[in-house]
Amino acid sequence: MMMRKSRIGVLTGGGDCAGLNPALKWVVKTAMDERLEWERGVRYEVLGIRDGWKGLTDIDPKTWDSAGHIVTLNPDTVRTWDRYGGTMLGTSRFSPYDPKNECAALVTENIERLGLEAVIVIGGDGTLAIGTRLAREGVNIIGIPKTIDRDLPETDYTLGYETALNVIVEEVDRLRTTAGSHKRIFVVETMGRDAGWLALEGGEACGAYIILIPEYEFSYDRVNELVTEGRRAGTRYEIIIAAEGAKPKGGAEVVRKKETDSFGRKSLGGVGEVIAKEIEKSTQLETRSVVLSHLQRGGAPCAYDRRMGRYYGIAAVDLVVNHKYGNMVRLKNGKISSYPLEKIYGKLNLVDVNTQYDADRYNGRRSILYHAEK
Ligand code: F6P
Repeated sequence: MMMRKSRIGVLTGGGDCAGLNPALKWVVKTAMDERLEWERGVRYEVLGIRDGWKGLTDIDPKTWDSAGHIVTLNPDTVRTWDRYGGTMLGTSRFSPYDPKNECAALVTENIERLGLEAVIVIGGDGTLAIGTRLAREGVNIIGIPKTIDRDLPETDYTLGYETALNVIVEEVDRLRTTAGSHKRIFVVETMGRDAGWLALEGGEACGAYIILIPEYEFSYDRVNELVTEGRRAGTRYEIIIAAEGAKPKGGAEVVRKKETDSFGRKSLGGVGEVIAKEIEKSTQLETRSVVLSHLQRGGAPCAYDRRMGRYYGIAAVDLVVNHKYGNMVRLKNGKISSYPLEKIYGKLNLVDVNTQYDADRYNGRRSILYHAEK
């Protein structure tokens, strides 16, 4: 039988998180599986592209192998990668469509020069949106969803999310003992950008007293009321989880700096401290804030992210083998499947306040089947 040769590329873009390395490992192992290649009639070579889309802007076609942005991967190179957090390929928040530095044509040219039949793109909304735009220009793209924000639509899972939730739970467990000893309120700021998933589900998992999410503007009066109610009932301390994008009624998000990134996005951060000060001023109860920040993106992937990285990596190669380009792999209703990237372009998956949030207690919902089964 004739064995066709093909070369594919893989990159990680946007913010790093746990789960990227397991996905990289299984892309490489699946693509280069010697048993499977006889069945497929194709022998794949896999090139790792360093530093996200930036890695495709600076390539010398003659010396790509030694230019630094491109690395030849094989099952031996990636054997132990699934144990580690971050991304062995590096990442960047670089967009070839940034109007200040438009270079999409160069990226397409370099993909051709490298002889890549397809590029597997592991990223969140920004990175996958770039993939979608390149796909419109004829590049064969497959997406793997990742982001601790879990804000990509049409998938029940994005790599990194479960590990980030575990960080929130671990850190809040640690805070509880010191908060209780000193009778303090702690406002714990989580990431998530415009989506409240990390705050809501992290808060549910760690048993937070109050959870503030971007999807529902909170009132300081209600927060103070809930806190004093708790103290009257005998609590010694309160844990309040605030998403970085949470805002008071009629107020704005708190930003770390004025400039936006190359995707035109704000850099959020600092709302936890603002809220802590307001609560302390109104209730006279000692209130501190803790920003979990990039701790949520760090550390080794939990078991779920290792498994999901594996399944997504394998499924992405399956799509390449079947030439099902322009799709992202996903988890939907307990099954791994695929979905057109074009249909999620520019969309976000946010918390549905009506069904997923208790807007009176500022917490997770207390009825799950009641409304549905009545
Ligand atoms: O999208 C992932 C995320 O961690 C957001 O939750 C957060 O707002 C942002 O990235 C932070 O990005 P950076 O690491 O570039 O500051």
